[in-house]
Amino acid sequence: MEEQASKRSCPFSGRVDGDAERVRRATGTERRTLPLPPGPKGRRLRNLIAKFRDYPGFAHELYREYGDVVLYRMTWLGECCLIFDPGLMRAVLDVEQKELIRQQISVDLARLRHGGMNTLYGEPHEARVAIVRDAFSADRMYLFTDHMAECVRARVESWRDGQRIDVLDEMLRLCLGFVLDVLLGKDMEADVGVALELRRALKTEWIVEQVPLLRRVRRLPLPIARRGDRAFETTDDLIYRAIERSENASYQGHDLVSHIVRRRRESGGRGPYASNEAIRDELILSLNSAGPAAHLFACGIEHLARRPSAGRRLAAEADAVLAGRPVRGADADHLPYATATVKELLRLRMIGQVAWKRAADDLVVDGYLIPRGSLVHPCFGVLHRRPEWYEAGEEFRPERWLDESGPVPTVLERPQGVEHDSTSSGPFPYHPFSYGSRECPGGVFMFPLGALLLATIAQRWTLERVADGESPFIFRPIGGPMRVQKPYYMMPRARDWTAPT
Ligand code: HEM
Repeated sequence: MEEQASKRSCPFSGRVDGDAERVRRATGTERRTLPLPPGPKGRRLRNLIAKFRDYPGFAHELYREYGDVVLYRMTWLGECCLIFDPGLMRAVLDVEQKELIRQQISVDLARLRHGGMNTLYGEPHEARVAIVRDAFSADRMYLFTDHMAECVRARVESWRDGQRIDVLDEMLRLCLGFVLDVLLGKDMEADVGVALELRRALKTEWIVEQVPLLRRVRRLPLPIARRGDRAFETTDDLIYRAIERSENASYQGHDLVSHIVRRRRESGGRGPYASNEAIRDELILSLNSAGPAAHLFACGIEHLARRPSAGRRLAAEADAVLAGRPVRGADADHLPYATATVKELLRLRMIGQVAWKRAADDLVVDGYLIPRGSLVHPCFGVLHRRPEWYEAGEEFRPERWLDESGPVPTVLERPQGVEHDSTSSGPFPYHPFSYGSRECPGGVFMFPLGALLLATIAQRWTLERVADGESPFIFRPIGGPMRVQKPYYMMPRARDWTAPT
Protein backbone atom coordinates (compact mmCIF):
# COMPACT_ATOMS: atom_id res chain seq x y z
CA MET A 1 0.00 0.00 0.00
CA GLU A 2 2.78 2.45 1.01
CA GLU A 3 4.69 1.47 -2.10
CA GLN A 4 1.59 2.24 -4.18
CA ALA A 5 1.43 5.70 -2.68
CA SER A 6 5.02 6.60 -3.51
CA LYS A 7 4.57 5.40 -7.10
CA ARG A 8 1.67 7.74 -7.52
CA SER A 9 3.71 10.95 -7.25
CA CYS A 10 2.72 13.63 -9.71
CA PRO A 11 3.20 12.89 -13.44
CA PHE A 12 3.36 16.62 -14.21
CA SER A 13 6.08 17.43 -11.72
CA GLY A 14 9.01 17.60 -14.17
CA ARG A 15 11.31 17.55 -11.15
CA VAL A 16 14.32 19.84 -11.33
CA ASP A 17 17.50 19.90 -9.30
CA GLY A 18 16.75 21.12 -5.82
CA ASP A 19 13.44 21.01 -4.09
CA ALA A 20 12.98 24.79 -3.93
CA GLU A 21 11.84 24.93 -7.56
CA ARG A 22 9.03 22.54 -6.79
CA VAL A 23 7.01 25.30 -5.14
CA ARG A 24 6.43 28.65 -6.83
CA ARG A 25 3.84 31.20 -7.91
CA ALA A 26 1.64 30.01 -10.82
CA THR A 27 1.75 31.86 -14.15
CA GLY A 28 -1.47 32.88 -15.90
CA THR A 29 -1.33 29.86 -18.24
CA GLU A 30 -0.61 27.47 -15.38
CA ARG A 31 -3.64 28.76 -13.51
CA ARG A 32 -5.82 27.62 -16.42
CA THR A 33 -4.07 24.40 -17.39
CA LEU A 34 -2.52 22.66 -14.42
CA PRO A 35 -4.48 19.92 -12.65
CA LEU A 36 -5.41 20.03 -9.00
CA PRO A 37 -3.75 17.36 -6.82
CA PRO A 38 -5.59 14.04 -6.44
CA GLY A 39 -7.86 13.56 -3.46
CA PRO A 40 -11.32 12.47 -2.35
CA LYS A 41 -14.07 14.00 -4.49
CA GLY A 42 -16.94 15.72 -2.72
CA ARG A 43 -17.26 14.32 0.82
CA ARG A 44 -16.89 17.85 2.22
CA LEU A 45 -18.73 17.21 5.47
CA ARG A 46 -17.20 13.75 5.88
CA ASN A 47 -13.71 15.18 5.43
CA LEU A 48 -14.37 17.90 7.96
CA ILE A 49 -15.69 15.44 10.54
CA ALA A 50 -12.83 12.96 9.92
CA LYS A 51 -10.29 15.76 10.28
CA PHE A 52 -11.71 16.97 13.58
CA ARG A 53 -12.06 13.47 14.99
CA ASP A 54 -8.53 12.27 14.34
CA TYR A 55 -6.38 14.38 12.04
CA PRO A 56 -3.30 12.09 12.07
CA GLY A 57 -5.44 9.06 11.16
CA PHE A 58 -7.27 10.98 8.43
CA ALA A 59 -3.98 12.25 6.95
CA HIS A 60 -2.53 8.71 6.93
CA GLU A 61 -5.52 7.40 5.06
CA LEU A 62 -5.21 10.14 2.40
CA TYR A 63 -1.48 9.51 1.99
CA ARG A 64 -2.03 5.79 1.51
CA GLU A 65 -4.78 6.35 -1.02
CA TYR A 66 -3.49 9.30 -3.06
CA GLY A 67 0.29 9.74 -2.60
CA ASP A 68 2.65 12.61 -1.84
CA VAL A 69 0.35 15.59 -2.55
CA VAL A 70 -3.37 15.45 -1.78
CA LEU A 71 -6.16 18.01 -1.95
CA TYR A 72 -9.38 17.62 0.01
CA ARG A 73 -12.32 19.93 0.56
CA MET A 74 -14.16 20.89 3.70
CA THR A 75 -17.52 22.66 3.69
CA TRP A 76 -17.11 26.43 4.24
CA LEU A 77 -13.48 25.98 5.33
CA GLY A 78 -12.37 25.60 1.72
CA GLU A 79 -9.56 23.42 0.42
CA CYS A 80 -6.61 21.85 2.13
CA CYS A 81 -3.46 20.50 0.47
CA LEU A 82 -1.58 17.88 2.48
CA ILE A 83 2.08 17.25 1.68
CA PHE A 84 3.90 14.06 2.66
CA ASP A 85 7.13 14.05 0.65
CA PRO A 86 10.10 15.29 2.76
CA GLY A 87 11.78 17.32 -0.01
CA LEU A 88 8.51 18.96 -0.97
CA MET A 89 7.68 19.68 2.66
CA ARG A 90 11.01 21.43 3.07
CA ALA A 91 10.45 23.37 -0.16
CA VAL A 92 7.07 24.60 1.10
CA LEU A 93 8.58 25.66 4.40
CA ASP A 94 11.49 27.36 2.60
CA VAL A 95 9.34 29.53 0.34
CA GLU A 96 7.32 30.87 3.21
CA GLN A 97 9.44 33.96 3.55
CA LYS A 98 8.69 34.91 -0.04
CA GLU A 99 5.15 35.45 1.14
CA LEU A 100 3.80 32.72 -1.08
CA ILE A 101 2.79 30.72 1.92
CA ARG A 102 1.69 32.32 5.18
CA GLN A 103 0.96 31.05 8.65
CA GLN A 104 -2.56 29.68 8.69
CA ILE A 105 -3.26 31.30 12.00
CA SER A 106 -1.87 34.74 12.35
CA VAL A 107 -2.35 35.98 15.87
CA ASP A 108 -3.22 39.53 15.02
CA LEU A 109 -4.51 40.41 18.45
CA ALA A 110 -5.49 43.93 19.38
CA ARG A 111 -3.29 43.72 22.45
CA LEU A 112 -0.16 42.66 20.55
CA ARG A 113 0.31 45.38 17.98
CA HIS A 114 4.07 44.80 17.52
CA GLY A 115 3.62 41.06 16.98
CA GLY A 116 6.39 38.55 17.46
CA MET A 117 8.44 35.99 15.57
CA ASN A 118 5.51 33.70 14.96
CA THR A 119 3.22 36.43 13.58
CA LEU A 120 5.66 38.43 11.42
CA TYR A 121 7.13 37.85 7.94
CA GLY A 122 10.12 38.85 5.86
CA GLU A 123 12.75 41.18 7.28
CA PRO A 124 11.05 41.94 10.64
CA HIS A 125 10.76 38.19 11.22
CA GLU A 126 14.36 37.44 10.18
CA ALA A 127 15.80 40.18 12.39
CA ARG A 128 13.96 38.85 15.44
CA VAL A 129 14.75 35.21 14.75
CA ALA A 130 18.48 35.96 14.46
CA ILE A 131 18.54 37.47 17.95
CA VAL A 132 16.44 34.75 19.57
CA ARG A 133 18.32 31.85 17.95
CA ASP A 134 21.53 33.37 19.20
CA ALA A 135 20.15 33.51 22.77
CA PHE A 136 19.01 29.88 22.57
CA SER A 137 21.92 28.40 20.60
CA ALA A 138 23.01 24.83 21.38
CA ASP A 139 26.38 26.01 22.69
CA ARG A 140 24.62 28.12 25.35
CA MET A 141 22.54 25.22 26.66
CA TYR A 142 25.01 24.54 29.47
CA LEU A 143 23.92 27.88 30.94
CA PHE A 144 20.42 26.52 31.44
CA THR A 145 20.79 22.84 32.33
CA ASP A 146 21.38 23.27 36.07
CA HIS A 147 18.24 25.33 36.27
CA MET A 148 16.36 22.66 34.28
CA ALA A 149 17.44 20.08 36.86
CA GLU A 150 16.29 22.37 39.67
CA CYS A 151 12.84 22.89 38.11
CA VAL A 152 12.42 19.16 37.45
CA ARG A 153 13.44 18.19 41.00
CA ALA A 154 11.14 20.75 42.58
CA ARG A 155 8.14 19.44 40.64
CA VAL A 156 8.80 15.69 40.88
CA GLU A 157 9.80 15.84 44.55
CA SER A 158 6.53 17.56 45.40
CA TRP A 159 4.58 14.39 44.52
CA ARG A 160 3.40 12.11 47.33
CA ASP A 161 3.11 8.33 47.34
CA GLY A 162 -0.38 7.32 46.19
CA GLN A 163 -1.45 10.88 45.37
CA ARG A 164 -3.57 11.32 42.22
CA ILE A 165 -1.83 13.75 39.88
CA ASP A 166 -3.22 15.43 36.79
CA VAL A 167 -0.28 14.71 34.48
CA LEU A 168 -0.95 17.41 31.89
CA ASP A 169 -1.42 20.04 34.57
CA GLU A 170 1.80 18.99 36.31
CA MET A 171 3.77 19.14 33.07
CA LEU A 172 2.23 22.49 32.18
CA ARG A 173 3.35 23.94 35.51
CA LEU A 174 6.84 22.51 35.05
CA CYS A 175 7.24 23.80 31.49
CA LEU A 176 5.65 27.20 32.16
CA GLY A 177 7.87 27.70 35.20
CA PHE A 178 10.97 26.83 33.22
CA VAL A 179 10.00 28.90 30.15
CA LEU A 180 9.19 31.90 32.39
CA ASP A 181 12.69 31.73 33.89
CA VAL A 182 14.35 31.31 30.49
CA LEU A 183 12.51 34.31 29.12
CA LEU A 184 12.59 36.67 32.09
CA GLY A 185 15.34 35.40 34.38
CA LYS A 186 15.10 33.25 37.47
CA ASP A 187 15.72 36.26 39.71
CA MET A 188 12.31 37.67 38.72
CA GLU A 189 10.72 34.82 40.71
CA ALA A 190 7.77 34.82 38.33
CA ASP A 191 4.72 32.95 39.57
CA VAL A 192 3.45 30.14 37.29
CA GLY A 193 -0.11 31.23 38.17
CA VAL A 194 0.50 34.46 36.22
CA ALA A 195 1.45 32.51 33.10
CA LEU A 196 -1.54 30.18 33.49
CA GLU A 197 -3.90 33.17 33.66
CA LEU A 198 -2.21 34.69 30.62
CA ARG A 199 -2.66 31.46 28.65
CA ARG A 200 -6.39 31.58 29.42
CA ALA A 201 -6.59 35.25 28.47
CA LEU A 202 -4.75 34.68 25.17
CA LYS A 203 -7.07 31.83 24.29
CA THR A 204 -10.11 34.01 24.95
CA GLU A 205 -8.59 36.86 22.92
CA TRP A 206 -7.97 34.53 20.02
CA ILE A 207 -11.57 33.29 20.00
CA VAL A 208 -12.87 36.88 20.27
CA GLU A 209 -10.73 37.93 17.29
CA GLN A 210 -12.32 35.25 15.10
CA VAL A 211 -15.93 36.34 15.74
CA PRO A 212 -16.80 39.99 14.92
CA LEU A 213 -19.79 40.05 17.28
CA LEU A 214 -17.63 38.99 20.20
CA ARG A 215 -15.26 41.90 19.56
CA ARG A 216 -18.09 44.25 20.53
CA VAL A 217 -18.97 42.17 23.56
CA ARG A 218 -15.35 42.34 24.72
CA ARG A 219 -15.71 46.06 25.37
CA LEU A 220 -18.30 45.34 28.08
CA PRO A 221 -17.02 45.07 31.66
CA LEU A 222 -17.80 41.34 31.93
CA PRO A 223 -15.94 39.27 34.58
CA ILE A 224 -14.10 37.27 31.89
CA ALA A 225 -12.87 40.50 30.24
CA ARG A 226 -11.76 41.96 33.59
CA ARG A 227 -9.92 38.73 34.40
CA GLY A 228 -8.16 38.90 31.00
CA ASP A 229 -7.20 42.55 31.59
CA ARG A 230 -5.72 41.65 34.96
CA ALA A 231 -3.70 38.77 33.44
CA PHE A 232 -2.19 41.11 30.83
CA GLU A 233 -1.51 43.85 33.40
CA THR A 234 0.30 41.47 35.78
CA THR A 235 2.38 39.97 32.98
CA ASP A 236 3.22 43.40 31.55
CA ASP A 237 4.39 44.53 34.96
CA LEU A 238 6.66 41.49 35.23
CA ILE A 239 8.12 41.93 31.75
CA TYR A 240 8.74 45.68 32.10
CA ARG A 241 10.47 45.08 35.44
CA ALA A 242 12.70 42.46 33.78
CA ILE A 243 13.54 44.96 31.00
CA GLU A 244 14.36 47.68 33.51
CA ARG A 245 16.64 45.36 35.46
CA SER A 246 18.43 44.31 32.22
CA GLU A 247 19.05 47.93 31.26
CA ASN A 248 21.65 48.07 33.97
CA ALA A 249 24.82 47.34 31.94
CA SER A 250 26.37 45.39 34.82
CA TYR A 251 23.53 42.86 34.82
CA GLN A 252 24.78 39.63 33.19
CA GLY A 253 21.66 37.41 32.99
CA HIS A 254 21.29 34.65 30.39
CA ASP A 255 17.54 35.12 30.01
CA LEU A 256 16.01 36.25 26.72
CA VAL A 257 15.06 39.72 27.97
CA SER A 258 18.66 40.45 29.03
CA HIS A 259 19.98 39.10 25.75
CA ILE A 260 17.64 41.30 23.71
CA VAL A 261 18.35 44.39 25.81
CA ARG A 262 22.12 43.82 25.49
CA ARG A 263 21.79 43.53 21.70
CA ARG A 264 19.72 46.72 21.64
CA ARG A 265 22.39 48.56 23.61
CA GLU A 266 25.13 47.29 21.26
CA SER A 267 23.22 48.57 18.23
CA GLY A 268 22.66 52.03 19.71
CA GLY A 269 19.02 51.43 20.67
CA ARG A 270 18.00 50.33 17.17
CA GLY A 271 16.82 47.00 15.74
CA PRO A 272 13.63 44.97 15.85
CA TYR A 273 13.29 45.39 19.61
CA ALA A 274 13.93 49.14 19.73
CA SER A 275 10.86 49.69 21.90
CA ASN A 276 10.05 47.98 25.19
CA GLU A 277 6.58 47.24 23.80
CA ALA A 278 8.13 45.13 21.01
CA ILE A 279 10.02 43.08 23.61
CA ARG A 280 6.85 42.74 25.65
CA ASP A 281 4.83 41.40 22.70
CA GLU A 282 7.53 38.88 21.79
CA LEU A 283 7.64 37.56 25.31
CA ILE A 284 3.88 37.26 25.65
CA LEU A 285 3.70 35.21 22.45
CA SER A 286 6.68 33.06 23.44
CA LEU A 287 5.19 32.23 26.82
CA ASN A 288 2.55 30.23 24.99
CA SER A 289 5.26 27.81 23.78
CA ALA A 290 5.30 25.94 27.06
CA GLY A 291 2.10 24.20 25.87
CA PRO A 292 3.67 21.86 23.28
CA ALA A 293 6.46 20.94 25.68
CA ALA A 294 3.94 20.05 28.40
CA HIS A 295 1.90 17.94 25.99
CA LEU A 296 5.00 16.11 24.82
CA PHE A 297 6.07 15.15 28.32
CA ALA A 298 2.56 14.22 29.44
CA CYS A 299 2.28 11.97 26.40
CA GLY A 300 5.67 10.49 27.27
CA ILE A 301 4.59 9.61 30.77
CA GLU A 302 1.51 7.90 29.40
CA HIS A 303 3.61 5.85 26.93
CA LEU A 304 5.94 4.76 29.69
CA ALA A 305 3.08 3.71 31.93
CA ARG A 306 1.79 1.52 29.09
CA ARG A 307 5.20 0.03 28.46
CA PRO A 308 6.70 -0.98 31.82
CA SER A 309 9.87 -2.40 30.20
CA ALA A 310 10.80 1.12 29.00
CA GLY A 311 10.10 2.46 32.50
CA ARG A 312 12.40 -0.21 33.99
CA ARG A 313 15.18 0.62 31.56
CA LEU A 314 14.90 4.33 32.36
CA ALA A 315 15.06 3.49 36.06
CA ALA A 316 18.16 1.32 35.57
CA GLU A 317 19.85 4.15 33.67
CA ALA A 318 18.89 6.73 36.31
CA ASP A 319 20.19 4.46 39.11
CA ALA A 320 23.49 3.88 37.33
CA VAL A 321 24.11 7.53 36.40
CA LEU A 322 22.73 9.29 39.47
CA ALA A 323 23.70 6.64 42.02
CA GLY A 324 21.14 7.93 44.47
CA ARG A 325 22.02 11.63 44.36
CA PRO A 326 19.70 14.36 43.00
CA VAL A 327 19.90 14.97 39.27
CA ARG A 328 22.23 17.75 38.04
CA GLY A 329 22.32 19.66 34.76
CA ALA A 330 25.47 17.92 33.50
CA ASP A 331 23.70 14.53 33.75
CA ALA A 332 21.72 15.38 30.62
CA ASP A 333 24.74 14.34 28.51
CA HIS A 334 24.92 10.91 30.16
CA LEU A 335 21.36 9.67 29.80
CA PRO A 336 21.24 8.05 26.33
CA TYR A 337 18.11 6.00 26.92
CA ALA A 338 16.19 8.98 28.34
CA THR A 339 17.38 11.12 25.40
CA ALA A 340 16.37 8.43 22.88
CA THR A 341 12.96 8.31 24.58
CA VAL A 342 12.50 12.05 24.08
CA LYS A 343 13.58 11.66 20.45
CA GLU A 344 11.06 8.89 19.92
CA LEU A 345 8.31 10.91 21.58
CA LEU A 346 9.04 13.84 19.32
CA ARG A 347 8.83 11.52 16.33
CA LEU A 348 5.58 9.86 17.28
CA ARG A 349 3.75 12.38 19.40
CA MET A 350 4.75 15.72 18.01
CA ILE A 351 1.92 17.99 19.04
CA GLY A 352 2.00 19.96 15.78
CA GLN A 353 1.44 17.00 13.44
CA VAL A 354 1.33 19.48 10.57
CA ALA A 355 2.81 22.92 9.87
CA TRP A 356 -0.18 25.23 9.54
CA LYS A 357 0.21 27.30 6.36
CA ARG A 358 -2.00 28.99 3.80
CA ALA A 359 -1.34 29.79 0.09
CA ALA A 360 -1.15 33.57 -0.31
CA ASP A 361 -1.42 33.24 -4.11
CA ASP A 362 -2.13 30.56 -6.73
CA LEU A 363 0.81 28.19 -6.41
CA VAL A 364 2.42 25.40 -8.36
CA VAL A 365 3.34 22.61 -5.96
CA ASP A 366 5.15 19.74 -7.64
CA GLY A 367 3.31 20.36 -10.89
CA TYR A 368 -0.13 20.75 -9.36
CA LEU A 369 -2.13 23.92 -9.00
CA ILE A 370 -2.93 24.94 -5.42
CA PRO A 371 -5.59 27.68 -5.44
CA ARG A 372 -5.00 30.86 -3.47
CA GLY A 373 -6.38 30.69 0.05
CA SER A 374 -6.02 26.90 0.34
CA LEU A 375 -4.57 25.55 3.53
CA VAL A 376 -1.17 23.96 2.86
CA HIS A 377 -0.13 21.44 5.49
CA PRO A 378 3.30 19.77 5.40
CA CYS A 379 2.44 16.70 7.39
CA PHE A 380 5.15 15.68 9.84
CA GLY A 381 2.88 13.15 11.56
CA VAL A 382 2.88 10.96 8.44
CA LEU A 383 6.51 11.69 7.52
CA HIS A 384 7.65 10.45 10.91
CA ARG A 385 5.97 7.10 10.36
CA ARG A 386 6.97 6.40 6.76
CA PRO A 387 8.24 2.81 6.48
CA GLU A 388 11.25 3.80 4.32
CA TRP A 389 12.84 5.29 7.43
CA TYR A 390 10.86 4.05 10.43
CA GLU A 391 10.31 0.32 10.78
CA ALA A 392 7.06 -0.36 12.66
CA GLY A 393 6.54 3.40 12.64
CA GLU A 394 3.40 3.26 14.79
CA GLU A 395 5.31 1.63 17.64
CA PHE A 396 6.96 3.51 20.45
CA ARG A 397 10.54 2.17 20.37
CA PRO A 398 13.19 4.44 21.91
CA GLU A 399 15.79 1.72 21.13
CA ARG A 400 15.57 2.52 17.42
CA TRP A 401 17.69 5.62 18.17
CA LEU A 402 20.40 3.78 20.11
CA ASP A 403 23.69 2.27 19.05
CA GLU A 404 24.27 -0.36 21.71
CA SER A 405 27.40 -1.94 20.27
CA GLY A 406 29.77 -0.28 22.78
CA PRO A 407 29.91 -0.44 26.58
CA VAL A 408 27.72 2.70 26.80
CA PRO A 409 24.87 3.25 24.29
CA THR A 410 25.03 6.34 22.08
CA VAL A 411 22.13 8.28 20.57
CA LEU A 412 21.90 8.02 16.77
CA GLU A 413 20.94 10.75 14.32
CA ARG A 414 18.83 8.33 12.31
CA PRO A 415 17.32 5.01 13.36
CA GLN A 416 19.53 1.93 13.50
CA GLY A 417 20.35 0.46 10.12
CA VAL A 418 18.74 3.27 8.08
CA GLU A 419 20.91 4.45 5.22
CA HIS A 420 20.15 7.83 3.76
CA ASP A 421 21.99 9.68 1.05
CA SER A 422 21.91 13.15 2.47
CA THR A 423 23.61 14.76 -0.53
CA SER A 424 20.79 14.03 -2.97
CA SER A 425 17.68 14.38 -0.87
CA GLY A 426 18.40 16.78 1.95
CA PRO A 427 18.67 16.12 5.65
CA PHE A 428 17.27 13.00 7.26
CA PRO A 429 13.46 13.33 7.42
CA TYR A 430 13.02 14.00 11.11
CA HIS A 431 11.64 17.49 11.72
CA PRO A 432 9.88 17.61 15.11
CA PHE A 433 10.47 21.35 15.33
CA SER A 434 9.53 22.10 11.72
CA TYR A 435 12.14 23.23 9.22
CA GLY A 436 13.66 26.32 7.65
CA SER A 437 13.28 29.89 8.73
CA ARG A 438 10.41 29.07 11.09
CA GLU A 439 12.04 26.11 12.77
CA CYS A 440 11.33 26.28 16.47
CA PRO A 441 14.05 28.20 18.32
CA GLY A 442 13.02 26.62 21.64
CA GLY A 443 13.37 23.00 20.48
CA VAL A 444 16.96 22.96 21.66
CA PHE A 445 15.77 22.93 25.29
CA MET A 446 13.63 19.85 24.87
CA PHE A 447 16.26 17.09 24.83
CA PRO A 448 18.10 18.03 28.05
CA LEU A 449 14.90 19.06 29.83
CA GLY A 450 13.10 15.85 28.81
CA ALA A 451 16.04 13.59 29.67
CA LEU A 452 16.43 15.17 33.13
CA LEU A 453 12.70 14.92 33.74
CA LEU A 454 12.40 11.25 32.75
CA ALA A 455 15.49 10.29 34.75
CA THR A 456 14.21 12.10 37.86
CA ILE A 457 10.78 10.49 37.64
CA ALA A 458 12.31 7.05 37.04
CA GLN A 459 14.71 7.47 39.95
CA ARG A 460 11.97 8.25 42.45
CA TRP A 461 8.68 6.79 41.23
CA THR A 462 6.83 4.23 39.23
CA LEU A 463 3.70 5.78 37.80
CA GLU A 464 0.47 3.80 37.81
CA ARG A 465 -2.42 4.60 35.53
CA VAL A 466 -5.56 5.51 37.44
CA ALA A 467 -7.99 4.40 34.73
CA ASP A 468 -7.57 1.67 32.13
CA GLY A 469 -8.70 1.99 28.56
CA GLU A 470 -7.90 4.06 25.53
CA SER A 471 -5.10 6.60 25.49
CA PRO A 472 -6.43 10.02 26.55
CA PHE A 473 -4.22 11.55 23.87
CA ILE A 474 -6.51 11.90 20.91
CA PHE A 475 -5.20 14.60 18.66
CA ARG A 476 -7.87 17.06 17.63
CA PRO A 477 -7.15 20.19 15.66
CA ILE A 478 -9.35 22.96 16.97
CA GLY A 479 -8.57 25.98 14.85
CA GLY A 480 -4.85 25.29 14.84
CA PRO A 481 -2.37 23.17 16.77
CA MET A 482 -3.47 19.81 18.08
CA ARG A 483 -5.17 19.46 21.46
CA VAL A 484 -5.33 16.40 23.64
CA GLN A 485 -8.20 15.24 25.76
CA LYS A 486 -7.80 15.84 29.43
CA PRO A 487 -7.71 15.47 32.38
CA TYR A 488 -5.63 12.39 32.73
CA TYR A 489 -4.46 11.10 36.10
CA MET A 490 -1.56 8.99 37.34
CA MET A 491 -0.54 7.74 40.74
CA PRO A 492 3.13 7.92 41.74
CA ARG A 493 4.34 4.96 43.79
CA ALA A 494 7.65 5.34 45.59
CA ARG A 495 10.25 2.99 44.13
CA ASP A 496 11.74 0.38 46.33
CA TRP A 497 15.40 0.51 45.39
CA THR A 498 18.93 0.76 46.68
CA ALA A 499 21.60 2.92 45.11
CA PRO A 500 24.02 0.86 43.00
CA THR A 501 27.39 0.36 44.62
C1 HEM B 1 8.15 20.04 22.61
C2 HEM B 1 8.23 21.35 22.55
C3 HEM B 1 8.06 22.17 21.33
C4 HEM B 1 7.63 21.80 20.08
C5 HEM B 1 7.19 20.41 19.59
C6 HEM B 1 7.66 22.99 19.26
C7 HEM B 1 7.33 23.01 17.93
C8 HEM B 1 7.38 24.13 17.13
C9 HEM B 1 7.10 24.13 15.71
C10 HEM B 1 6.70 22.90 14.90
C11 HEM B 1 7.26 25.41 15.27
C12 HEM B 1 7.10 25.90 13.82
C13 HEM B 1 5.72 26.42 13.57
C14 HEM B 1 5.56 26.84 12.13
O1 HEM B 1 6.19 26.32 11.20
O2 HEM B 1 4.72 27.69 11.90
C15 HEM B 1 7.61 26.22 16.41
C16 HEM B 1 7.83 27.56 16.37
C17 HEM B 1 8.21 28.31 17.46
N1 HEM B 1 8.54 27.84 18.72
FE1 HEM B 1 8.40 25.95 19.36
N2 HEM B 1 8.09 24.05 20.02
C18 HEM B 1 8.36 23.59 21.28
C19 HEM B 1 8.84 24.32 22.36
C20 HEM B 1 9.16 25.65 22.32
C21 HEM B 1 9.72 26.41 23.42
C22 HEM B 1 10.05 25.83 24.80
C23 HEM B 1 9.87 27.69 22.98
C24 HEM B 1 10.41 28.89 23.69
C25 HEM B 1 11.10 28.92 24.78
C26 HEM B 1 9.39 27.73 21.60
C27 HEM B 1 9.33 28.87 20.83
C28 HEM B 1 8.90 28.91 19.51
C29 HEM B 1 8.78 30.14 18.72
C30 HEM B 1 9.07 31.55 19.20
C31 HEM B 1 8.35 29.76 17.43
C32 HEM B 1 8.08 30.67 16.23
C33 HEM B 1 9.28 30.69 15.32
C34 HEM B 1 9.05 31.50 14.07
O3 HEM B 1 7.91 31.71 13.64
O4 HEM B 1 10.05 31.90 13.50
N3 HEM B 1 8.97 26.49 21.24
N4 HEM B 1 7.69 25.41 17.53
